[in-house]
Amino acid sequence: MKIGLYDSGIGGLSVLKELLPIFPNDQFIYYGDTKNAPYGSKSKEDLWKINTVILNFFESKKIDVLIVACNTSSALFLDKIKKHIDIPVFELIHPTAEKIKYDRFKKVTVFGTNRTIDSHCYKTSIQSLSPKTEVLEIACPLWVPFIETSASIIKNETSIDVDISEKVLQAFEWEADGIIFGCSHYPFLSHHLEKEWSKQSTNRPMKWINPAQALSSLLKKEKETITSVTKSVPRVDFIITKQSALFTSISKEITKNSKFAHSLTII
Ligand code: DGL
Repeated sequence: MKIGLYDSGIGGLSVLKELLPIFPNDQFIYYGDTKNAPYGSKSKEDLWKINTVILNFFESKKIDVLIVACNTSSALFLDKIKKHIDIPVFELIHPTAEKIKYDRFKKVTVFGTNRTIDSHCYKTSIQSLSPKTEVLEIACPLWVPFIETSASIIKNETSIDVDISEKVLQAFEWEADGIIFGCSHYPFLSHHLEKEWSKQSTNRPMKWINPAQALSSLLKKEKETITSVTKSVPRVDFIITKQSALFTSISKEITKNSKFAHSLTII
């Protein structure tokens, strides 16, 4: 089976990492739109044009399943994406809402990009399944530009120059019992986020919710229903739209020690 995944850059790699073990014999095509990152503060019109280019690319590759590994895109366009491309489409927001319900969270904070937070997609989706769960949405527009241009996320440097402590403090003061990485880039900051949380509290451990894990639990269950007849070998073809040393290094890291062959092409 051929599985297409896309994101504005390295964010979707945090999703791919969770999916490789679930589809060990399949082919992945990963489109990282590094030229247009970050998506999170762009206009809706520009983002739809960008999404259309990517969807047309995947149509030409004849993929069997599409994973929107970008919250901003699915927050704004999930219905349009499903109409545009006639194959099963999966994303990160609805599986996360299922998890919130299943684990009975009472007060969750969502960190996300401007567009994702403005759309209230997490709040709507969570409260449609768990009407009593309170949701605090916090936009973190500086984080993706920081991550896409920073080697320190890999090195887990002790301090980084972005407004993490301020956002974590907001969630802490609101007494959240879970925090959702509402952007697929944010798991790359998890070390820094967890450290900031532990500075606030040693006796109130936080449950960090990674939507990529919620999606992978869903796909484990649905795998049999989506498997196609197309034969493939385990490989990942990474396509990026602008050279990025960080992308090259993380994509290598993810496929290292696996049976997935890989290639990286800049288009
Ligand atoms: N990683 C994407 C998301 O989950 C896009 C972030 C961005 O490019 O601003 O929203």
